[in-house]
Amino acid sequence: MEMIRLSNGIETPLVGFGVFQIQDAEQCRQAVTDAIDVGYRRIDTAVLYNNEAAVGKAVREAIAAGKVTREEMFINTKLWTCDASYEGARKAYERSTERLGLDYLDMFMIHFPFGDVYGAWKALEELYAAGKVRAIAVSNFQVPKFTEFAEIVDVKPHVNQLEMHPFFARYDSIENMREYGTVPEAWGPLAEGKEGIFTHPVLTGIGEKYGKTAAQVALRWNVQRGVIVVPKTVHKERMVENISIFDFALTDEEMKQVDALDLGHSPIIDHNNPRVVKYFVHVKPEDLL
Ligand SMILES: NC(=O)c1ccc[n+]([C@@H]2O[C@H](COP(=O)([O-])OP(=O)(O)OC[C@H]3O[C@@H](n4cnc5c(N)ncnc54)[C@H](OP(=O)(O)O)[C@@H]3O)[C@@H](O)[C@H]2O)c1
Repeated sequence: MEMIRLSNGIETPLVGFGVFQIQDAEQCRQAVTDAIDVGYRRIDTAVLYNNEAAVGKAVREAIAAGKVTREEMFINTKLWTCDASYEGARKAYERSTERLGLDYLDMFMIHFPFGDVYGAWKALEELYAAGKVRAIAVSNFQVPKFTEFAEIVDVKPHVNQLEMHPFFARYDSIENMREYGTVPEAWGPLAEGKEGIFTHPVLTGIGEKYGKTAAQVALRWNVQRGVIVVPKTVHKERMVENISIFDFALTDEEMKQVDALDLGHSPIIDHNNPRVVKYFVHVKPEDLL
């Protein structure tokens, strides 16, 4: 597994395993167990996903079975909007580590740029200074908000996780993050299956040359431009497929062919739509159960 170095010097795998929409506890525990068994060392969860306990169980079981050490694993969770304040973030950290059954986090992320994100960040900076979390991060901070935030806070976000895939390339965001030493991370790196990604002629055409699938080409394109990816699947054979992207490289021409698929907007969700903003400001994790 290839790693990428964050601005504070710590390394994290370029491919992680996402667990959004795996809410059934046993299914989530099994998926994370399978992911660890096939080589994933980075897990991406969130309070909103209602599955931190299952993720933690699988990780602790893998450690107890001697498959991995805690130090080899990189666990990221995200605090939800209702906890976006100084006190809220402190309490959210305690609750998340308790649910995960871990005594530190590798990364703690503000899930959305809503609420008192500056208060929350102060709490994250203190947790980071105290060694309770190894990296602190944001998610869904688009260029103007990310710029404002990065200009004001002391510790610049180590990572910003955004929707990024061949149909939404976001080179402007990547360039903007790099000014602050922030590493880009892609959520929905398989576009959640939108735009016929798994059978797309450009992606399958490139893949044929290397004996790779369209999914592998899409993931390779992101990691090759320095973007961490966290694809989700509950199928073990797809977990293997999604992680097997380090034995080939796209040519500059092929990178450009994938770049050309960019729609310039999300095919999944429009974060600039007021109705979407209202939804994310008010929805609670328990609403999604
Ligand atoms: N920060 C945020 O706001 C945010 C938002 C969304 C997601 N995320 C994170 O990003 C992770 C990934 O994003 P996502 O889950 O939304 O979408 P995704 O990874 O782009 O796509 C997942 C979908 O693709 C299917 N799939 C996966 N690998 C495949 C393959 N090789 N061939 C065919 N189908 C495949 C999965 O189905 P099966 O499971 O049936 O295989 C699932 O339906 C999440 O799990 C979460 O950790 C973060």
